[in-house]
Amino acid sequence: MKIPFVLLFSILFCGTMLLVNCQGTMDIKTAQYYTNGHRLYSVHCANCHGDKGEGLGMLYPPLTDQDYLIRNREALPGIIQYGMHEEIMVAGNSYNMQMPANPQLSAVEIAYILTYVTNSFGNKNGVFSESEVLDGLGKMQKQAAPQE
Ligand code: HEC
Repeated sequence: MKIPFVLLFSILFCGTMLLVNCQGTMDIKTAQYYTNGHRLYSVHCANCHGDKGEGLGMLYPPLTDQDYLIRNREALPGIIQYGMHEEIMVAGNSYNMQMPANPQLSAVEIAYILTYVTNSFGNKNGVFSESEVLDGLGKMQKQAAPQE
């Protein structure tokens, strides 16, 4: 009975390695952030932006516009934490709607979500670290309340 067990174990092990490899060249930290981000995205974002980041018509913009995400990388943490209401161009369409704030999300949770978003839906933009999120949020706060 020993051999089948060893065999089963090897198959499981190989399967797991294959799965890790399927995520391409993603390193372990990115893969961890991505997985946590996927879970949080389903709870907090998918309602409006869709399971595949496809958005909803002219109501909710898609998250598939790689150019928008790259150009606005520094602003993304603030968009998630504080919400957004301004005229924007995404994937060739203009939106001027209201995205609600997410005050309950911590910086590391925002890093998970952004790592997921910027590496899904055809995007491939590397990991978002917690410190990058904190930086982004710090900049947003300074812009909102300029110093004399
Ligand atoms: C209630 C619906 C709603 C939810 C929930 C929501 N958003 Fe949004 N989001 C919007 C709307 C509407 C806009 C456009 C705001 C504007 O026009 O100023 C937007 C804009 C954005 C943008 C910038 C434009 C773009 O499409 O790239 C990003 C990035 C984004 N949302 C990510 C998220 C993430 C990540 C979550 C989950 C934490 C989330 N949103 C949750 C409605 C929502």
